[in-house]
Amino acid sequence: MLKLLSSLFALSLFFINSRATDSTCHTDRCTNGPEIRYPFWLSHGSPPEEYCGYREFGLICDNGNPVFSPPPGLWYYVKDIDYVNHSIHLVDVDTVNQTCPRALHKFPIGSLPLSHSPLNLNLSFYYNCSSHPSGVSSIRCLSSGLYESFVFFMGNETKGFQWDQNCKENVIVTVLKDQVTSNGLMNQFAGAINEGFVLDWQTANDCKECEASAGLCGYNVTTKEILCYCKDGSIKSNDCKGGGGSLEKLHIGLIATGGIGALLTFKSSASGQDSSSSCILKN
Ligand SMILES: *[C@@H]1O[C@H](CO)[C@@H](O)[C@H](O)[C@H]1NC(C)=O
Ligand SMILES: *[C@@H]1O[C@H](CO)[C@@H](O)[C@H](O)[C@H]1NC(C)=O
Ligand SMILES: *[C@@H]1O[C@H](CO)[C@@H](O)[C@H](O)[C@H]1NC(C)=O
Ligand SMILES: *[C@@H]1O[C@H](CO)[C@@H](O)[C@H](O)[C@H]1NC(C)=O
Ligand SMILES: *[C@@H]1O[C@H](CO)[C@@H](O)[C@H](O)[C@H]1NC(C)=O
Ligand SMILES: *[C@@H]1O[C@H](CO)[C@@H](O)[C@H](O)[C@H]1NC(C)=O
Repeated sequence: MLKLLSSLFALSLFFINSRATDSTCHTDRCTNGPEIRYPFWLSHGSPPEEYCGYREFGLICDNGNPVFSPPPGLWYYVKDIDYVNHSIHLVDVDTVNQTCPRALHKFPIGSLPLSHSPLNLNLSFYYNCSSHPSGVSSIRCLSSGLYESFVFFMGNETKGFQWDQNCKENVIVTVLKDQVTSNGLMNQFAGAINEGFVLDWQTANDCKECEASAGLCGYNVTTKEILCYCKDGSIKSNDCKGGGGSLEKLHIGLIATGGIGALLTFKSSASGQDSSSSCILKN
């Protein structure tokens, strides 16, 4: 009897896990690049009706490469995702693989649940300057005629000169600290820009309650509702604690397998505070 019970138990566990992984919190990837999983998700063309992941963290594949496109419609290749340290390594699509990149914009963090990694450093570019202090060398490949361009570690611009007033544009570009030195910047900035930069992610505001209840957060595009994918395979609104708004589809199956449901409940409350979920464990 015990043997039958435990194999039934194993079977229902499998059922729950495969449902959660196959249809919702699954792992995806483009031809190249890192595994894409929670809190990121892969959008195939248009976003799916519902997904497991942060709303802002949908990725697409572009010619086999994963791309993150934060508003206002900028494009960054996703070079790597570190699911342990919660960081994402990005490279601006506009300036990838260029021998003389002309950076156009800084990364717009805005209200995204992202912050700059301590591994980063900012470069400050001044384009099309009509004059400059003596002894400062310009970036040759970004200068033409009377107008020259310059790059500094941000905050380390030559003092006593009004860069903003003498140059047509100032663009801040984030790179990795270990890619540049203050003496070699002129030869290093192209390579550094091509290596990109790292951002750390934090729990999205909308998802705090769900993750605090050991669930994985998602979104129903049709109803504009926050979803919480729970360890027991159910999908609830907002968090895994409440009874209200339960969207469990497995319930009937569990009732049908009789005592197993109770056993499962026991089992999941016994492992209660474990913050990793079945989705993560399965992947
Ligand atoms: C996480 O960060 C630490 C410290 O920066 C680093 O030593 C470690 O390799 C990182 N983990 C992964 C999986 O990259
Ligand atoms: C950049 O150049 C490398 C080496 O030539 C190549 O493998 C890679 O596909 C290029 N990346 C893009 C996005 O064009
Ligand atoms: C780089 O600039 C961004 C704003 O563009 C800022 O949020 C970040 O703190 C800066 N990083 C460093 C290391 O100064
Ligand atoms: C400098 O200005 C000219 C004319 O507006 C423009 O074509 C060129 O791209 C600018 N150079 C840089 C590095 O922004
Ligand atoms: C600023 O520039 C000077 C040389 O011009 C260099 O010695 C110094 O290390 C730089 N500081 C930073 C923070 O890069
Ligand atoms: C999302 O909303 C649609 C429309 O109400 C509904 O049919 C679907 O079951 C919902 N999905 C989830 C996981 O709640």
